[in-house]
Amino acid sequence: MTAKSEISIRPLQLSDADAVQRYASDERVARMTTIPQPYPPDGGETFVKKAVEAHANGEAFYFGILADGEMIGALDLRSIDHENRSVECGYAIATSHWGKGITTKAVELMLQFAFSDLGMEVVRSSCLSRNPASARVLEKNGFRETGEYASEIPKFKGEPFRGFQLTKREWLANYPKEHG
Ligand SMILES: CC(C)(COP(=O)(O)OP(=O)(O)OC[C@H]1O[C@@H](n2cnc3c(N)ncnc32)[C@H](O)[C@@H]1OP(=O)(O)O)[C@@H](O)C(=O)NCCC(=O)NCCS
Repeated sequence: MTAKSEISIRPLQLSDADAVQRYASDERVARMTTIPQPYPPDGGETFVKKAVEAHANGEAFYFGILADGEMIGALDLRSIDHENRSVECGYAIATSHWGKGITTKAVELMLQFAFSDLGMEVVRSSCLSRNPASARVLEKNGFRETGEYASEIPKFKGEPFRGFQLTKREWLANYPKEHG
């Protein structure tokens, strides 16, 4: 039996560029996200530079996902709506680590940051309807489906997407022992 990995998240760092380059270059990751394919040779470096700057300015928040200390993916909180205290989350991890519950745990940690530290009232997310693994990550974290719609994102124009959201109230009700 293999021991479960220790999962943590921490703000993305410039030194994460190579790890980002590795997982983002994988077509299986790119086909579900806005990550360009083929991925440019300096894509990881460009991404972390922008992410670190945005995180420092509070415009958006980018975290590395660590499994036993190894950086294997990232998640973000973007499109912050300060008036309604709502934000959108996204994530991706290396294919070698899929199916081990890692993103589910990472999203759980990020929700703590979004609701407790950032003071958000709603966290939203969405995924291609052909991406059941992503929908499952959200469902396992208590997100409610808000409906299906045709995407406006140029890469996926017209493709069906599923919208999800989780309110702070629902989050507190779902996880009273851990977060109450
Ligand atoms: C989506 C993604 C982040 C999931 O990461 P992960 O660490 O493998 O997710 P977890 O292991 O925490 O949970 C995955 C769940 O989806 C389920 N799942 C996986 N493939 C599935 C499929 N084809 N149909 C239904 N469920 C599926 C798993 O069984 C698991 O659910 P369970 O615990 O109830 O069994 C990962 O696949 C990824 O990086 N994909 C590419 C990028 C991406 O799609 N990002 C999201 C964009 S919206």
